[in-house]
Amino acid sequence: MKFFADTSDIDEIKDLADYGLLDGVTTNPSIIAKSGREFIPLIKEICEICDGPVSAEVASTDYATMRKEAEVLRKIADNVAIKVPLTPAGLKTCKELSDDGTMVNVTLCFSAGQALLAAKAGAAFISPFVGRLDDISYQGLDLIADILTIYDNYPQYDTEVLVASVRNPMHIIESAKMGAHVMTAPPKVIKQLYNHPLTDKGLAAFVEDWKKTGQSIL
Ligand code: E4P
Repeated sequence: MKFFADTSDIDEIKDLADYGLLDGVTTNPSIIAKSGREFIPLIKEICEICDGPVSAEVASTDYATMRKEAEVLRKIADNVAIKVPLTPAGLKTCKELSDDGTMVNVTLCFSAGQALLAAKAGAAFISPFVGRLDDISYQGLDLIADILTIYDNYPQYDTEVLVASVRNPMHIIESAKMGAHVMTAPPKVIKQLYNHPLTDKGLAAFVEDWKKTGQSIL
């Protein structure tokens, strides 16, 4: 499973890269607003740190403006993935950009039917939002299973399932069990995967016992 960081925080992105946990980055207008930084230079900086796909989202909702914004965004770097919303305008933009060899991440997916449309539009990634479905008492992970089943039936689709709106390690583990290609999560959630109380307890015991030996490896 590829790990994307759902953040625009440069320090967090560098940190994950140092630990070998960074295969890509996703941003959205809310993340950019939170950063307080100028959008285009920020995406450029992220693309210099991360070799993998870096999602930069269009801001307009009408096709003509969205298409122009996509042209600006795709010139930032070769690894920019243009993020478009799952709307008719977004999917039309997706089809044109994909036909032209540009990666597109179709975002705000909440149904299997929407995911089918994105695959037909040639999306590189479909982003189903599991956490936001859980928030309204739907099983977000069921959507991942449905999309994977549908895509498996049609090997001609190259679209990767990018599990988004990830809120906890179980979202990652359950999606990985199903074979989802990618997940994007806040760095804090990615790092929660390290945690287990028996690891902490076991390590504390090993450290204490090692001291008793009076030895040093170095
Ligand atoms: C994905 O690309 C989105 O940016 C993100 O996962 C949304 O997550 P949220 O529902 O926690 O805002």
